[in-house]
Amino acid sequence: MKEIRMVDLLGQYSKIKEKLDYAMQDVIENAVFINGPQVGLFANELADFLHVKHVIPCANGTDALQIALMALDLPRGAEIIVPTFNYVATAEVIALLGFKPIFIDSSVDNYNLLIGAIEAAITENTRAIMPVHIFGQCVDMLTVLKIAQKYNLYVIEDAAQAIGSKCFFPDGTERFAGTIGHIGTTSFFPSKNLGCMGDGGAIFTNDDAFAKKIKAIANHGQSTKYNYDEIGVNSRLDTLQAAILRVKLTNLSTYNQSRIDAASFYTQFLEAYPFIETPRTAHWTSHVFHQYTLQVDANQRDGLKKFLETKNIPTMIYYPLPLHLHKAYQYLGYKEGDFPNAENISKKVISLPMHTELDNEQLLYICNSIIEYFKN
Ligand SMILES: Cc1ncc(COP(=O)(O)O)c(C=O)c1O
Repeated sequence: MKEIRMVDLLGQYSKIKEKLDYAMQDVIENAVFINGPQVGLFANELADFLHVKHVIPCANGTDALQIALMALDLPRGAEIIVPTFNYVATAEVIALLGFKPIFIDSSVDNYNLLIGAIEAAITENTRAIMPVHIFGQCVDMLTVLKIAQKYNLYVIEDAAQAIGSKCFFPDGTERFAGTIGHIGTTSFFPSKNLGCMGDGGAIFTNDDAFAKKIKAIANHGQSTKYNYDEIGVNSRLDTLQAAILRVKLTNLSTYNQSRIDAASFYTQFLEAYPFIETPRTAHWTSHVFHQYTLQVDANQRDGLKKFLETKNIPTMIYYPLPLHLHKAYQYLGYKEGDFPNAENISKKVISLPMHTELDNEQLLYICNSIIEYFKN
């Protein structure tokens, strides 16, 4: 059996080596490493794929979030609603820009922000909601959009973990994660569903004015050469990374399907066992399984992780502690017990190996090993 990895980037590379090597060599030989033609071509190709008007590449997914928020021109202290069960980046940029993260709880069924908790968190200072499409399935965007409209709020989607996932609407339309709110963002971190070979990110919008502003902010706030209309940042996607992403984008649907197939294997095997909760996909979304995350008894979770390690099966805990309980966010005044779902989930979750190169032999071995732990 092949070595089991949490993410198998080398295996993925070996299958498209020729195309990737050619694309990289081409960049090297043309020596336009910054803002080379591949950057614009990739942006256009991704815009076509996602059916969104503007894709603005940038240096990473955290910058993408920061630039998106900067484009809103919110007053200092503006409150922004964000899930506490999440990777830190979304809340981090809110705080960094002098706004106030307002944490809300998450759903134990789909790990996404708890829709029913949004309205209670809204005050006269609330200016935006940041839904994070966690682990690969969409937040209930229909309801988010309705609430945002009612309270006149911006919606900035964090689609770092859900590129290619679709949200279904009752009128029969479907839209890709990140293209539904005012602005959406993603990350091309190597392990993401669409990953490059370093850092990368992008910002999406259908709004021309936002697109113009975002482009300027990502380029030092420059409107025309050496004219700075606002304070910006320097955040660029390297030409090399864009060239790599152009190749990988042509495989994104296949990559997502491989993840879906691996997830189906896990679920078909594991769902029969009452001591394991397999992930559920909400009816309003497809799932591209950036992570395949189980819930098990909190008292057995760490033991399971250790046991699997002895079997050479890596696992990860995404996320071991909700953000409101971290030292950096203590100044916001939250305490243990404020978000019981998120706190509970954090003690019960365990993410299994999930990538495009898993084969049935590996999947069967992982499933059998999990059952072996519980049966002993
Ligand atoms: C939900 C979420 N948002 C933002 C980011 C940040 O992306 P990057 O690492 O490219 O800055 C990540 C990365 O892991 C993420 O998972």
